[in-house]
Amino acid sequence: MKIHIVGGGAIGLLHAGLLAQAGQEVTVWTRTDEQAKRLQAEGIRLEMLDGVARDIAVNSHSLPSLLAGQAGQAGADAEHAAAWIILTVKQCHIDERLLHQLQRLSSGKSALLCLQNGIGHMDKLAAALPGTLLYAGVTSAGARRIDDARHVRHTGDGPLWFGAYAEDKKDDNLQNLLLNILKSAGFRAGLSNEMKDRIYQKLLINAVINPLTAIYDTTNGELPEHPSRLKLMRSLFEETSAILAADGMKSAADGWQLVMQVCAATATNVSSMLSDVRAGRHTEIDWINGGVSGLARRIGIASPLNDAVTTLVKQLH
Ligand code: PAF
Repeated sequence: MKIHIVGGGAIGLLHAGLLAQAGQEVTVWTRTDEQAKRLQAEGIRLEMLDGVARDIAVNSHSLPSLLAGQAGQAGADAEHAAAWIILTVKQCHIDERLLHQLQRLSSGKSALLCLQNGIGHMDKLAAALPGTLLYAGVTSAGARRIDDARHVRHTGDGPLWFGAYAEDKKDDNLQNLLLNILKSAGFRAGLSNEMKDRIYQKLLINAVINPLTAIYDTTNGELPEHPSRLKLMRSLFEETSAILAADGMKSAADGWQLVMQVCAATATNVSSMLSDVRAGRHTEIDWINGGVSGLARRIGIASPLNDAVTTLVKQLH
């Protein structure tokens, strides 16, 4: 099946590489021409969990070429649109320009799976793409880009859950097709009709680990090692879980344990937020802790810790 992967970051390249390796016809849409040229010419260099690296051929075009009308092969790829588009860009890149590019890429038969951290993007995408079947996804797979263009390392296995954003806007055949394709490419994928809950559970983990690792400049494993950091983690966890529960999250009895388990399982990893700060990139703070603060305001409860870490992280980049 034709699959468009939008975004050439670590998660995009990981999904593109594994799907192309399993025989799917994958096109990677990147933000720069330079990256698209490298991917088209040399393919994705995918380092698997067992350390073995392979070069995997994919098609690749830049997103700007979709709007420039100069696309040539890019235009042809977009015209015969894929059944599935997988959106892997960071939240801060979902702007008017990208929405316009996605309108070009999607067609009547397209479905869009969104794999972003944080909240806020789904409403924006639903408004911009009224004719597209929209799916929310949550992935716990770990990936790290080793160079600027094509080399990605799969750093951790984890489930990928996805489900329709609106119950009345889904296609059972299309979603089952994607599920089978993902499974045969090696993903631990599953369909869920509790996506809001899954998104909130992941948001809770990200809202505790990401800002504090960025502020303290520690790996995920080092974060809970100092008593004062652990205390702050716990307070941020309590505040965030109360806000998310007030907005409908089923509170998991073992929520705190889960945060600690993620720190242990990804102990040597640098969180995506710290990695953005170190590289001088924009972080997803506005859609993680900023998103939690926004929910709290809407519900009418205070969110002093989420407000504070949002302000602090914004000053790091
Ligand atoms: O954003 C991240 O880095 C990851 O989602 C997580 C779970 C915090 C682990 O590093």
